[in-house]
Amino acid sequence: MTATKGLEGIIAAQSSICSIVDGVLCYGGINVDELAEKASFEEVVYLLWNGKLPNRSQLDELNKNLGENAAVPKEVIDSIRSYPQGVHPMAILRTAVSLLGLYDQEAQDMSAEANLRKSIRLMAQTPTIVAAYARIRKGLEPVDPDPKMSLAENFLYMLTGEKPSETAIKAFNTALILHADHELNASTFAARVTVATLTDIYSGIVSAIGTLKGPLHGGANEAVAAMLAEIGSLENVEPYIRHALDNKQKIMGFGHRVYKNGDPRAKWLREMSKALTKQVGKEELYQMSVKIEEMVTSEKGLLPNVDFYSASVYTALGLESDLFTPIFAISRMSGWTAHIMEQYENNRLIRPRAEYTGPVNQHYIPIDQR
Ligand code: ACO
Repeated sequence: MTATKGLEGIIAAQSSICSIVDGVLCYGGINVDELAEKASFEEVVYLLWNGKLPNRSQLDELNKNLGENAAVPKEVIDSIRSYPQGVHPMAILRTAVSLLGLYDQEAQDMSAEANLRKSIRLMAQTPTIVAAYARIRKGLEPVDPDPKMSLAENFLYMLTGEKPSETAIKAFNTALILHADHELNASTFAARVTVATLTDIYSGIVSAIGTLKGPLHGGANEAVAAMLAEIGSLENVEPYIRHALDNKQKIMGFGHRVYKNGDPRAKWLREMSKALTKQVGKEELYQMSVKIEEMVTSEKGLLPNVDFYSASVYTALGLESDLFTPIFAISRMSGWTAHIMEQYENNRLIRPRAEYTGPVNQHYIPIDQR
């Protein structure tokens, strides 16, 4: 038995939700480029859950369900008020979503119908939790969700209490689509491993949130924002990146386990970054990002992943950098729940083996002889 470090190249499941073939990313067989250009995030949610795009009445029903389920139990909001200051919003989200499970009377109902209803609630309530916490930590009251708004509009509205611009809604909708699913990425795999024991959907989602939080995965977008802030100006890019490369430091937002010729989502975010930073007078952020890309690509052969330009996109949208990964979680909730439901449909316990590398033929030595 020989271990494959990081399970690289291992096919660990069959799935009809999302494919990555020759660097092309598709949801339900539709190229993500087409979806990013034409779809609403809600259509993508339906596609991931059902394997096909919704017709008008199916989309209306989903929108209605998401709107009606966006409010979070008062007990959860009260609990968020009591969480310690300075805790990372991903830790808050992980805890609050776990708490949602306590107040969901269907939490232990393992029927497919109940799991779909829970998926709707998780999808609808995650933005409400993130926005509520973002306000509570500033001493502001949470803003109630507006059931008539799209998920993208509603989230931005709940953050500020003001109706967002059409540009912001469109950009955020596209970002949600681009982050919605990505086959067996680490957090989705964690969710599938968890629910393959036939535990409940909330347990699977809590595993996924905890996994996304790490800087090698979803946490990279916040790390990119921190790097941009530390660099501070276009002229500082060159010495900063040179020093990092010379010292073999990782440059966050670059490299990918699956894409070696470029992440198809990055070009969208690069264009959005260019347009949005210009609109808000923060072009230097985009220029710095381009310069970093040029250096890292020419010197290391590494290309930007989905997290690199999303940092400047979200900054231009006025979002706080420690909310970037929770925003990723809002979007990926669609993919996580789709994969969890697919796992339940055709389940087998996921239990690989380890290659043992420890000592052999040892004996118990009484404690006073050690
Ligand atoms: N900066 C500098 N060097 C890098 C980077 C990077 N961002 N990424 C990979 N490398 C180097 C590694 O040091 C390694 O070099 P070596 O062979 O000389 O030791 C080589 O490229 C291979 O890298 P691995 O880490 O083995 O590649 P792996 O497939 O395991 O990791 C990962 C992929 C985690 C994304 C990696 O590229 C990385 O850490 N990137 C930075 C973090 C990041 O942006 N994560 C977000 C990924 S997208 C997402 O999860 C949503």
